[in-house]
Amino acid sequence: MKKKVALVTGGTGGIGTAICQALAQEGYQVAAGYSKGGDHQAAQAWQAQQKQSGHDIMIAYGDVCDYGSCGLMIANVEQHLGPIDILVNNAGIMRDASFRKMTPAHWLEVINTNLNSAFNVTHQVINGMCDRAFGRIINISSMNGQKGQFGQTNYSAAKAGMHGFTMALAQEVAKKGVTVNTVSPGYIKTKMMTEIPENILTGIISAIPVGRLGEPADVARVVTFLAHPECQFITGSIISANGGQYMS
Ligand code: CAA
Repeated sequence: MKKKVALVTGGTGGIGTAICQALAQEGYQVAAGYSKGGDHQAAQAWQAQQKQSGHDIMIAYGDVCDYGSCGLMIANVEQHLGPIDILVNNAGIMRDASFRKMTPAHWLEVINTNLNSAFNVTHQVINGMCDRAFGRIINISSMNGQKGQFGQTNYSAAKAGMHGFTMALAQEVAKKGVTVNTVSPGYIKTKMMTEIPENILTGIISAIPVGRLGEPADVARVVTFLAHPECQFITGSIISANGGQYMS
């Protein structure tokens, strides 16, 4: 049987890399979407690193803020691997500032990258999934979209919006064999964490019941679960991976 095809946006980042590796290990054909500000060499170096560690992963350039660029990324993946069965909307950034100090640019960058991206990519794969009567859309949101976070009005709004998107789309495609779910990570050990001031990070870790930051693999495990062909009855859900820090 032909291997199913997965596209992971932000696939070369911290959580994205773990998701790509986990899906590849499960036997999917995986493409990592990247923009890296157009730094194709960095993406190629990432791909070579993956190859060395035994993961054969395609890389596909696409700016998730731009509908046309997403179309080209998807066409590239479909030309090389075949139709996309699994889409992981994972690309995201943070531009933290208290609301009174936040600039319009910080607001728009985060809304575009973390929320509008879900429209730009999903809108261009959903018809194919419905026509083929199989699809998995997995949106990587955040605990901070559920509970709000000081300094993150932009990020919290985008991540909460992402789950609203999940619930609405899940209803629209439920009869077509396509599930749509949200994964909601808490604080995960990635480069993003290095942007948080040391004293604040110490406070954050002390508030996590399991007593540590999450690992990217903790998030990837939820993604492979939701991507599985037999995972048909879970849709419109939000699954947390936050070490018990926020329980809804
Ligand atoms: N809660 C309550 N009050 C806080 C606060 C907090 N978390 N952080 C700062 N404050 C208070 C300060 O004590 C100070 O109070 P006083 O004026 O009374 O002294 C005031 O707010 C400072 O306000 P400023 O606007 O001057 O804030 P700042 O510029 O110093 O820093 C910030 C604000 C950049 C948002 C900084 O607090 C920060 O980096 N916070 C971390 C935000 C965070 O947790 N981001 C999560 C990133 S990880 C992620 O997003 C991944 C994921 O999905 C989970």
